[in-house]
Amino acid sequence: MARVPVIGGNWKMHLGLGEALQLASDVRNRLGSVRGSEVVLFPPFPFLKPVVDRVEGSNLRVGAQDLHFETSGAFTGAVAGPMIKSVGCTHVLVGHSERRTVFGDTDAIVGRKLLAALDAGLVPVLCIGELLEERKSNETFRVCARQLQAAIGAIPTGRLDDLVIAYEPVWAIGTGLTATPEQAQEVHAYIRQKLADLHGKAFAEATRIQYGGSVKGSNAAGLLGQPDIDGALVGGASLKAEEFAQIVKA
Ligand code: 13P
Repeated sequence: MARVPVIGGNWKMHLGLGEALQLASDVRNRLGSVRGSEVVLFPPFPFLKPVVDRVEGSNLRVGAQDLHFETSGAFTGAVAGPMIKSVGCTHVLVGHSERRTVFGDTDAIVGRKLLAALDAGLVPVLCIGELLEERKSNETFRVCARQLQAAIGAIPTGRLDDLVIAYEPVWAIGTGLTATPEQAQEVHAYIRQKLADLHGKAFAEATRIQYGGSVKGSNAAGLLGQPDIDGALVGGASLKAEEFAQIVKA
């Protein structure tokens, strides 16, 4: 079954407002009328609405990098799903490894955030992946299975139609070390099998699984050519419009 590739640009905590708007314009000029794949930009919170406005009328979509699991309340510094939705975003990253390792998001918190994203009508991009020590001790599959089970195991299949998974081996993020296409494909195939175990074969076949971790213009085609790799979640290279466009074209 043909899955529409989805390419995300995670800008992380980079850029000022002017640079963010310039990047949004540059990406729009190159990819604004892209067809055959979905392109989603993930700017920092203060730039969400300006970037939404900048890409309005194009085929580009905008998402947030995180959300809180409650819809409102005394949670200083946090941003709720309905707020993100209300400024025109369509997507949200959930459980990015930097949230897990730097901010202490546990599997349980990631699960609550995923539900909050669904409740807000946002497409969750659930990020999973193993640490370097875990890969070295052959725990990659076990870690991915645990993270998937915790986040989506208890959610009814019918609610997960739009879910996107991003497999991001933590040792490959921002390090220049990319998983080889074969290494990535092996884990993606495992994740798809696990999705089938949890929610059935039709769900597993329909769900897009992105790869993330030092994806660049030069390595994108090899990764995206694998049968179970349905797109990329790009960090550093998404800050350069031309390189990001190369990845999407791959
Ligand atoms: P890099 O592409 O900079 O390695 O980051 C990957 C990532 O974390 C995307 O979410």
